[in-house]
Amino acid sequence: MLFRLSAFTALLAALPAVSVFGGQVPVVNGVLGGVQTTPKVKTDVINAAPAATTPGKLRVVENSGICETTPGVNQASGYGDLASDKSIWFWFFESRSNPDTAPLTIWLNGGPGSSSMIGLFQEHGPCRITNDSKSVKLNPNSWNQVSNMLYIDQPVGVGFSYGTTDVGTSQAAAEDIWNFLQIFFKDTRFSKYQKNDFALWTESYGGHYGPTFAAYFLDQNAAIAKGSVSGLPINLKVLGVGDGLTDPLSQYPGYISYAASNPYHALVSQSVITRANTSFTRSGGCRDQIAQCDSTGDQDVCSEAQSFCNNNILSPLAGNYDVYYVLTRNPDPYPPALDTYLGSSALMKKIGAQSSWEETNDDVYSNFAATGDWMTNSRPNLEKVIKAGVRTIVYDGDADYILNFHGVEAMVDALQTQFTATYAKQQFANFTVRGQAAGLFKNAGTFSYVRIFGAGHEVPAYTHGSLSTGEAALQMFSQIMSNSSLHAT
Ligand SMILES: *[C@@H]1O[C@H](CO)[C@@H](O)[C@H](O)[C@H]1NC(C)=O
Ligand SMILES: *[C@@H]1O[C@H](CO)[C@@H](O)[C@H](O)[C@H]1NC(C)=O
Ligand SMILES: *[C@@H]1O[C@H](CO)[C@@H](O)[C@H](O)[C@H]1NC(C)=O
Ligand SMILES: *[C@@H]1O[C@H](CO)[C@@H](O)[C@H](O)[C@H]1NC(C)=O
Repeated sequence: MLFRLSAFTALLAALPAVSVFGGQVPVVNGVLGGVQTTPKVKTDVINAAPAATTPGKLRVVENSGICETTPGVNQASGYGDLASDKSIWFWFFESRSNPDTAPLTIWLNGGPGSSSMIGLFQEHGPCRITNDSKSVKLNPNSWNQVSNMLYIDQPVGVGFSYGTTDVGTSQAAAEDIWNFLQIFFKDTRFSKYQKNDFALWTESYGGHYGPTFAAYFLDQNAAIAKGSVSGLPINLKVLGVGDGLTDPLSQYPGYISYAASNPYHALVSQSVITRANTSFTRSGGCRDQIAQCDSTGDQDVCSEAQSFCNNNILSPLAGNYDVYYVLTRNPDPYPPALDTYLGSSALMKKIGAQSSWEETNDDVYSNFAATGDWMTNSRPNLEKVIKAGVRTIVYDGDADYILNFHGVEAMVDALQTQFTATYAKQQFANFTVRGQAAGLFKNAGTFSYVRIFGAGHEVPAYTHGSLSTGEAALQMFSQIMSNSSLHAT
């Protein structure tokens, strides 16, 4: 999680076009979330299959003893082989309580190109990386307290996943993960979970992945019911989107207002804010370019909008602060890096990993940047999922700049669903956790939103007041996963 914009400016000049400093969103030629000058979707082979694949099947190591050490709680890690040249890495942990009836949650980090091992080891997995990056410690606020958890590195090429990297849109990624889930649920070790409630929780670029994947799963369920597709339905009951990029047109003004004013401090001078605001509002500027991407769906237009807006707005407005946690200046060593721990060959052998790990894969990021998927609007898919009755929560840490709550709340306010009128009438209430105000929330029907105090981009990695790390996030997750609205405790 450690790329630091300004601290590395000199270094950047000497580096190749795409440079990733452990952050979820790459820095390209010095621009956070930038686009290479001649973007092209390319089909590269990442870490060409080091082991024999088993197309249509899983390769599994059971109970490696890594991370989850609670007695009697099973785990499994390995690959689902979509094809001989496409292997998707997964890591499954049983729920610490009633695994046979507990829901099954899949977790996806963003990027695009970032590994979901970020969520596992820095946020809400059964263990968390220690500050010296050398070991892990059992996590009492792990989300497998209440749900079976399935962490997936996707698309192909990301994290421990390997093979031909030809995915460059959220829609194409959704199709691969639907196929992965078919393989997972057909395996005799995991078929018992297919009937359980299914949840999809995502973060960051997951503001695109979550709504797009969920809407696609619903479409596939309908096609299976009609008999036009053969496969196992996915019992989708919950969608969670944390600090997500969903609707750029609603969200980009949030960079300008958050950089000027947020619960902590301004990020840049007034002159930088004024310049970025002009780049947004002027004719042919960022706002017009995003609108043109929306109305034409043209990949070149969308890719150019990403380049322009991130050059002129997202990147310059961050100042010298950590874009994922504005309470610290660059470089912020927290959450601790995972490279050393996950790079150990002894660990890789134990868990069955065949390909070396990196936090964010440049080729996958570049493929997405070439299609401009970043600037497409995933709000219609989010609306479709909410309208279908899937319980949905959007959440955001108030110290995150890169997907800040100004933008996310503007996106939420723009949602058009059966709950829109009720939501608009609600006042924010304190999200109280063990008697302490830990955030502000609203519920309307089966939709909820919460802004978590003191949290950066990776919400469960932070704490507030005398709560423990990830405690407020676990209360949020537990309430939603038990099909309840958010409430104070
Ligand atoms: C790890 O680092 C964070 C951020 O600096 C700090 O808040 C936390 O207390 C540290 N944890 C431990 C166990 O020292
Ligand atoms: C940005 O420009 C618009 C239109 O000129 C103006 O209404 C708004 O107040 C400006 N915002 C900031 C933060 O300067
Ligand atoms: C939340 O609680 C704090 C005190 O803990 C109080 O000052 C504030 O007014 C409350 N906010 C709301 C919206 O109820
Ligand atoms: C979840 O709660 C909603 C609203 O109360 C209800 O309509 C729905 O049937 C519940 N779902 C499940 C799986 O119990």
